[in-house]
Amino acid sequence: MNKTILEMKGICKSFSGIRVLHEVDFTLLKGEVHAIVGQNGAGKSTLMKILNGVFTKDSGVIWIDGREVSYDTPIGARRNGINMIFQEFSLVPTLTVYQNVFLTKEPRMGKMLLKDSYCEKKTAEILSEIGIDVEINPKSLVGELSVGSQQLVEIAKALSSESKILIMDEPTASLTHTEIDSLFDVIKRLKQKGISIIYISHYLRDIFEICDRITVLRDGRRIFTKKLEDTNLEEVISAMVGKPVTQQSHVGKGVINREATPILEVDNLKVGNLIEGISFKLWPGEILGIAGLLGSGRSEIVNAIFGTIKREKGELKVKGERINIRSSRDSIRAGINIVPEDRRKQGLILDFSVKENLILPIVNRLAKLLLVDDKKAEKLVSYYMDKLKIKAEGVWQVVRFLSGGNQQKVVVAKSMASESKILLMDDPTFGIDVQSKQEIMSIVAEFARSGGGVIFISSELDELAKYCHRILVLKRGVITEVVDCEGGRAISEEALLKMIQ
Ligand SMILES: Nc1ncnc2c1ncn2[C@@H]1O[C@H](COP(=O)(O)OP(=O)(O)OP(=O)(O)O)[C@@H](O)[C@H]1O
Ligand SMILES: [Mg+2]
Repeated sequence: MNKTILEMKGICKSFSGIRVLHEVDFTLLKGEVHAIVGQNGAGKSTLMKILNGVFTKDSGVIWIDGREVSYDTPIGARRNGINMIFQEFSLVPTLTVYQNVFLTKEPRMGKMLLKDSYCEKKTAEILSEIGIDVEINPKSLVGELSVGSQQLVEIAKALSSESKILIMDEPTASLTHTEIDSLFDVIKRLKQKGISIIYISHYLRDIFEICDRITVLRDGRRIFTKKLEDTNLEEVISAMVGKPVTQQSHVGKGVINREATPILEVDNLKVGNLIEGISFKLWPGEILGIAGLLGSGRSEIVNAIFGTIKREKGELKVKGERINIRSSRDSIRAGINIVPEDRRKQGLILDFSVKENLILPIVNRLAKLLLVDDKKAEKLVSYYMDKLKIKAEGVWQVVRFLSGGNQQKVVVAKSMASESKILLMDDPTFGIDVQSKQEIMSIVAEFARSGGGVIFISSELDELAKYCHRILVLKRGVITEVVDCEGGRAISEEALLKMIQ
């Protein structure tokens, strides 16, 4: 049995009088990969931010290597060998890779600042030590890297200090399949070196693949800690949800009348050398999936339709009528809305409340003279909060203080609330727990059944297979196949995975 490297005991935390962690205990062994799971808002990130010194605990004790420790800053945590990769990236886009890696480091060489050349060399070393096949130049600006590469820089940054404990909060969310495989190799390598890893994820299958033990949190309480070999998927899910898992009700796909006028027609869309010759039709009631690796051009398609990136070529028709979309304002006017991939940048105003975020795009519809009809607004907001089970203290809670998954639910609700007819959804269930995923998908299905059209991008191929009527397979910016999944025809996740490679 490996020795215990970390012990957290009786950890409590409240935010403005509301308890979010109740006497949580957590132990970590040397060289173990320990998963923490729980529904959105269960308290996973909060517990880890306490360990990392971002939040101060209200009560409880932390021991590292058998010694009680006390710190209330990330620097203090780092001195104790703890590093965290955040759910929300903490990189500065306008600095280079190596500047980011060494950004928060204490200068090691006496009082002298670390030299650029040293940092650059060291960064290259760490990146090659991580052993990921992706080329990253330490001198590149972080803002110019793909989201996947940025994630790797985050890991490099965490490893640049002497780490005993590495916390990963949803590390795979923005990685491609190959990047995920290499990340798992990296994790195995770190483990062999005796580094302990705390791994937070909603991808339970990955957890069964790479973790040694699992701790389930529910509503801020620890439900159990077990070895993965002593538990199974059903037991974990029912502990997360708090009741036995019932056979999940499957939302049937609606029938589509392909004689009708398409709700959206895209003809010969081209954006630089990112996407080319993209043509398809979307019918009322249809959920059209796009399967493709990150970087295949899938986000570019929806962004070019929505007007957030410039089309070089391509015509759009909405309900048979040609429209000219030059900006997102034009597309909203034409009844098109988007759930963007980068929700924190494009989807939300973090310092506004849930309510303000939801009603912002629809103020006109609710406006009576110039005043927003508050009752109506509140009703609408409550409807979506209830429908998507958004965990917040109320409609007035500031979005910044919601858990990651609940922020994402607000983005989805926002796109739904605006009475659009066409929804472009770029990985909408990213960071969302198993049960909420179902809730989101069932209201997407309901939206389609009531005559809307949905373009649905997802990295989770089983989700595409389950909910879409057709799936466009995208490779290097071109559509290589159209898979028909209507009327009893189905495709397996494995088959789709092969197609997108
Ligand atoms: N700074 C804060 N101020 C107020 N409330 C907060 C703050 N940070 C988190 N909370 C609340 O604490 C609860 C737990 O949030 P936490 O972020 O730990 O959840 P999580 O388990 O990481 O969820 P997710 O899977 O969605 O990331 C949530 O109800 C959240 O709204
Ligand atoms: Mg979280």
